[in-house]
Amino acid sequence: MKVLIVGSGGREHAIAWAVARSPKVEKIYCAPGNAGISEFAECVPIGAMEFDRLAAFAAEKGIDLTIIGMDDPLVGGIVDVFEAKGLKVFGPRKNAAILEGSKAFSKDLMLKYNIPTAGYRTVYSAEEAREYLKTASFPIVLKADGLALGKGVLICNTPEEADAGVAEIMETKKFGSAGDKMVIEEFMTGREVSVLSFCDGRTIRPMTSAQDHKRAGDGDTGLNTGGMGTFSPSPFYTEEVDKFCREHIYQRTVDAMAAEGRPFVGIIFFGLMLTPNGPRVLEYNCRFGDPEAQVVIPRMKNDMIEVMEACVEGRLDEVDLRFEDNAAVCVVLASDGYPVSYKKGFEITGLENFKGRDDAFVFHAGSKFDEQGRIVTNGGRVLGVTALGKTLVEARANAYKATELVNFENKYMRHDIGKAIDEA
Ligand code: AMP
Ligand code: GLY
Repeated sequence: MKVLIVGSGGREHAIAWAVARSPKVEKIYCAPGNAGISEFAECVPIGAMEFDRLAAFAAEKGIDLTIIGMDDPLVGGIVDVFEAKGLKVFGPRKNAAILEGSKAFSKDLMLKYNIPTAGYRTVYSAEEAREYLKTASFPIVLKADGLALGKGVLICNTPEEADAGVAEIMETKKFGSAGDKMVIEEFMTGREVSVLSFCDGRTIRPMTSAQDHKRAGDGDTGLNTGGMGTFSPSPFYTEEVDKFCREHIYQRTVDAMAAEGRPFVGIIFFGLMLTPNGPRVLEYNCRFGDPEAQVVIPRMKNDMIEVMEACVEGRLDEVDLRFEDNAAVCVVLASDGYPVSYKKGFEITGLENFKGRDDAFVFHAGSKFDEQGRIVTNGGRVLGVTALGKTLVEARANAYKATELVNFENKYMRHDIGKAIDEA
């Protein structure tokens, strides 16, 4: 089989790693990819939003399955473009990717189908928002409707902060047209857990749980980022929580999408909050999380290609999804200054220390080859160092030990990834 992966981050590197292990696969391409991914795949310089060029490439090379890693092309309708050309592709169509692409859509869906989530109101103008906020209790949460690189969510503690938030999202349009509509949502408290799942439009198979660390600094301080580290499984995701979510959230979401004429094929990522009143959906994403993929995928026992083919062919009910009874921790090595401003182009050394290991991995998020063929930093998030262990405590120690094996100038990481484990 020939496989094409679309994307260029640590998530796509983890996907490429898993695809390369499949005995069914003879050749992997990745567009546009990065220096780390090139260990497994031939990287082709086509951007993830160049749908026609990507589809033409897939047709020309006789690609048997294309896997879309990123949210932007999915929400933009890349799957529809591939399907129209008769190409097999893993990911939701545009009319299903809206589950992530519009927060107003997903909130309305949850309300209509009785899926537990925070109370909300969708507003269409700054005036309407301000009128509504007069009667709101604080803190309150403002969410730009569309994609905003994970930054379109503002938690406002006072009416003044909310007023500034309305201006930012709906007036100065910090997130562009993502702020044409806005969801105003009740503030919830509790632990956050991510559960990713495979779906074939009808059947859903949840994967093992994970937890992200979104803030840049230790102790959850500083700005929101794409994610500074993850661990899996979450000790807070108990059997009782799992039972509740299976009964009230997972299958119900898939059924709701099917009932709306938007069958979801691909990955649904459930962002959950374990509130004092039970689990609630914080958000849906329509693809693997990054860096959640970097701790979930290495623990998966199945051949990922077989699972993805079953999704595309509508026979996921035949698949028994299995995970190792172990744990994984991923620590992101970023460029100092991320997510605001940072220098790049520094040589990365020590990568050879991970060659051939199956207990520790380095997934590249932002790297490239320079003119001399050296691997250099090329982004805010540079590497994700994942290590396995029998327990979470062991995996965390292994991951931090492994972070010492690679170096680059201005290397920055959080030192408290997985600290919550100690509170379990
Ligand atoms: P989202 O992109 O919707 O997951 O929001 C980003 C982050 O904002 C979440 O991971 C939470 O930490 C926080 N958040 C979102 N919605 C709420 C809410 N209703 N109550 C409290 N925190 C929230
Ligand atoms: N790590 C969060 C996300 O991928 O959305």
